[in-house]
Amino acid sequence: MTVFGGGVPHGVQATAWQAALDTFDRFDRADRLLFSVPMWNGGIPYVLKQFVDVISQPGAVFAVDPDTGYTPLLSGRGKKAVVVYTSAVWGPQLGPEFGRDFQSTYFTDWLHWTGIDDVAEIRFHPTLTGDSATIRAQAHADSRELGKRF
Ligand SMILES: Cc1cc2nc3c(=O)[nH]c(=O)nc-3n(C[C@H](O)[C@H](O)[C@H](O)COP(=O)(O)O)c2cc1C
Repeated sequence: MTVFGGGVPHGVQATAWQAALDTFDRFDRADRLLFSVPMWNGGIPYVLKQFVDVISQPGAVFAVDPDTGYTPLLSGRGKKAVVVYTSAVWGPQLGPEFGRDFQSTYFTDWLHWTGIDDVAEIRFHPTLTGDSATIRAQAHADSRELGKRF
């Protein structure tokens, strides 16, 4: 928030800030991104959320203006992402008694927010009663098809 507020980090803050920028740079060097994202308690695993929080920095992933809002800084760079969304209980065909999807709604929105618009999904949601083998085979087939495009 020091940088967000227009300041310059010093000392341990500067070290932490550089570590965040280095992590962003590693992410930014990839033009093809593959994420494997299991649903954890309706959302995404905390390690992935921490990654989002570390790299989503002003001047790196976004710019922000008090009047016009956010500008994504990764757009127009030809970046493509594939996200494998999985869950064990929840499924898109089920009601809220099996949970709600704050996993793909959050993470796909974050990718678009960064400016990565070319986002494809592979889904594996066998649920507690589905035919896991058939649904897995479909996910594998979907992956192979996507692989041709990416
Ligand atoms: C901490 C934790 C929380 C989970 N929460 C959910 C959940 O809310 N809904 C669900 O359908 N599955 C949930 N699962 C199941 C995982 O989504 C499932 O195991 C994963 O998608 C499959 O990946 P895996 O083979 O690596 O476990 C959870 C699993 C763990 C470990």
